[in-house]
Amino acid sequence: MGQQSSEQAVSSNKAGRPTLTLRRPDDWHTHLRSGDMLKAVAPYTARQFARAIVMPNLVPPVTTIAAAEEYRSQILAALPSDADFTPLMTCYLTDSISAEEVEKGHHKGAFTAAKLYPANATTNSSHGVTDIRRIYPVLEVMQRSGMPLLVHGEVTDHEVDIFDREAVFIERILVGLLKDFPELKLVFEHITTAEAAVFVTESGPNVAATITPHHLTFNRNAIFKGGIRPHFYCLPVAKREKHRLALRKAATSGLAKFFLGTDTAPHEARDKETACGCAGLFNAPYAMESYAAVFEEESALDQLEMFASVAGPTFYGLPLNEERITLEPVETVVPDHIAIPSGKLVPFHAGETLKWRFKAGSSAA
Ligand code: DOR
Ligand code: ZN
Repeated sequence: MGQQSSEQAVSSNKAGRPTLTLRRPDDWHTHLRSGDMLKAVAPYTARQFARAIVMPNLVPPVTTIAAAEEYRSQILAALPSDADFTPLMTCYLTDSISAEEVEKGHHKGAFTAAKLYPANATTNSSHGVTDIRRIYPVLEVMQRSGMPLLVHGEVTDHEVDIFDREAVFIERILVGLLKDFPELKLVFEHITTAEAAVFVTESGPNVAATITPHHLTFNRNAIFKGGIRPHFYCLPVAKREKHRLALRKAATSGLAKFFLGTDTAPHEARDKETACGCAGLFNAPYAMESYAAVFEEESALDQLEMFASVAGPTFYGLPLNEERITLEPVETVVPDHIAIPSGKLVPFHAGETLKWRFKAGSSAA
């Protein structure tokens, strides 16, 4: 996949920091949850992003066309009536899912993609795949129809150190998978290691990756700074500094294989601040401000539109968004928490002052 020209507009304020106008971005990896949590969090994603790939790890998981269609309606019902947002639904792969259901769902537009969770790798993944060979008939169909496979790339073997599980997944699973399905469209989700960045860069144009704002922002030390910090815990867990730097290089490279996927994964504060806390950061409210900070620090603001708004739709074969959004060089204070009817959520960057302010867009340029 070649590099694409970016049309993003730039104008500077007195301090020489630019105001950015770019195509409205999409989020290629979100957890919108269900019920009251869905109602509380979905408007944040819909405010910044035109489309989002919605993860299927609900209880029970989204494994049928009917469930995906029902979930899509719930998402739309959770949004303000003037929201302009398209949820792109995914199918949760299990050992026993039928290839026919997956193929039919893709052709109907009910499933944009299918998600591979290795069984017990993360939140609500107990129905995931126990052995990749069990879903080979499904992968056959997906390869044929150009349906993307979204991969949570970690081995689940507890003998493998948690910080090595992504790199080991590449060796043990991914290399063989792509050998058997060389044309399969595959997104290596929320990559966290230099090994993953290299693997994706060196693979064919059918292999891409999403990168979260949090894995670009902190390394594993943040989880243990002065005590245990549950709001920095997610899966795959943040790695060493050298990996964060490799991810920054990949995200800002202008290579259309790397695109935005927040992996916003809200859990109530009490479910994180506990003896066995849930994995996931709630980063939807300030996602674009967070990415913009990274791109500015890397002197790569000119690559933000490629990462946020061009590379993803190009990989998925979808049209680019025509609306524009603005990022102003104005300070934004992130609250310590966001109240929801059942408790509270702690957003990523809680209590920090970010250097950007997101403004919903105007018309097409
Ligand atoms: O940190 C994470 N949270 N990683 C995942 O893979 C799942 C997600 C969630 O659903 O909470
Ligand atoms: Zn996720």
